[in-house]
Amino acid sequence: MMKDVYILGIETSCDETAAAIVKNGKEILANVINSQISIHQQFGGVVPEVASRKHIENIATVVNNAFTEAGLSHQDIDAVAVTTMPGLVGALLVGLSFAKAFAYGLNRPLIAVNHLQGHIYANFLQHNDIEFPAICLVVSGGHTSLLYMRGINDYELIGATKDDAAGEAFDKIARFLGLGYPGGPAIQKAAQQGQAGLFKLPRVFLDRNDFEFSFSGLKTAAMNSWKKAEKQGNYKVEDLAAEFQAALVEVLVEKTIRAAQKYKVGTILLAGGVAANQDLRTRLEESARQRQLNLFVPSFLLCTDNAAMIAGKAYHDYVNGDFAPLNINAQPSQYSLIK
Ligand code: KG4
Ligand code: ZN
Repeated sequence: MMKDVYILGIETSCDETAAAIVKNGKEILANVINSQISIHQQFGGVVPEVASRKHIENIATVVNNAFTEAGLSHQDIDAVAVTTMPGLVGALLVGLSFAKAFAYGLNRPLIAVNHLQGHIYANFLQHNDIEFPAICLVVSGGHTSLLYMRGINDYELIGATKDDAAGEAFDKIARFLGLGYPGGPAIQKAAQQGQAGLFKLPRVFLDRNDFEFSFSGLKTAAMNSWKKAEKQGNYKVEDLAAEFQAALVEVLVEKTIRAAQKYKVGTILLAGGVAANQDLRTRLEESARQRQLNLFVPSFLLCTDNAAMIAGKAYHDYVNGDFAPLNINAQPSQYSLIK
């Protein structure tokens, strides 16, 4: 029997400085997240240079806190995993440089993890009964993609957004409406006080028989509707938030279900920060249940950026001996989900 494997995960691709220790790709012994949201809020979005500087200030403490939380010493770790792509280059480099030095100092292997594969893996941290093949909807601040998965490391991209990512659209509209950052939770909160259908926004690409998305037009339509309504002075911002969320969620849900049917799978996975959206979770759950499809969604904490998903994903690379050289670089715009 293989001995237990303890992996330290480090994640600094955007505005969360995170470190986690995961045992055997399953058991989360520590999951420390230092969010910079309150710092970036005053600018209405993430300022890359500020994010890098804050990562530098925080990283050592966050990693130390992970060891304290897990009750382990540095020597107990078998490998160091780190997000190398995609993300903000300066932010990625802080985590990567720290991870390289840590791995080198301890004489342990370094494992490079694609952030999006980490998001997908969040499902496997919590569920033991995921059956393949599966369709996975990845919805984050930077990505909106549908994948056909044959295994954890075996999948192909079947569709993606042609312009804005779903989270990006939430963030931009929330900023435009003065609802704050991050936009997803802000729109969700406003939408709970509003009514969808009073504004009429398009369900973009729903009439197309493919798995591509587009949210830029929806964003423009929402902005134009709001400007018109402001002139007339007879609408609530909450109603626009509700309609915007409904329009976006309907397209995501419909296309995901259609993909599951076309590819004849019994399993759907949801991943990424936008997977924290309550309306998306509820509607996808309902649609999946009606068609006897099994839906898996990570818990809220594991939907948004964290390092447990990075350490978990790395376990499978560890088992396969898939290690990274110490001269590996960050790849900020690496879109490919396949390593
Ligand atoms: O995965 P994530 O934490 O970072 C990236 O990899 O991009 O995703 C962040 C995105 C942001 O755009 C944020 O507005 C969105 O996820 N988000 C949400 C919710 N919580 C976070 N979008 C909709 N509803 C939410 N509850
Ligand atoms: Zn993310």
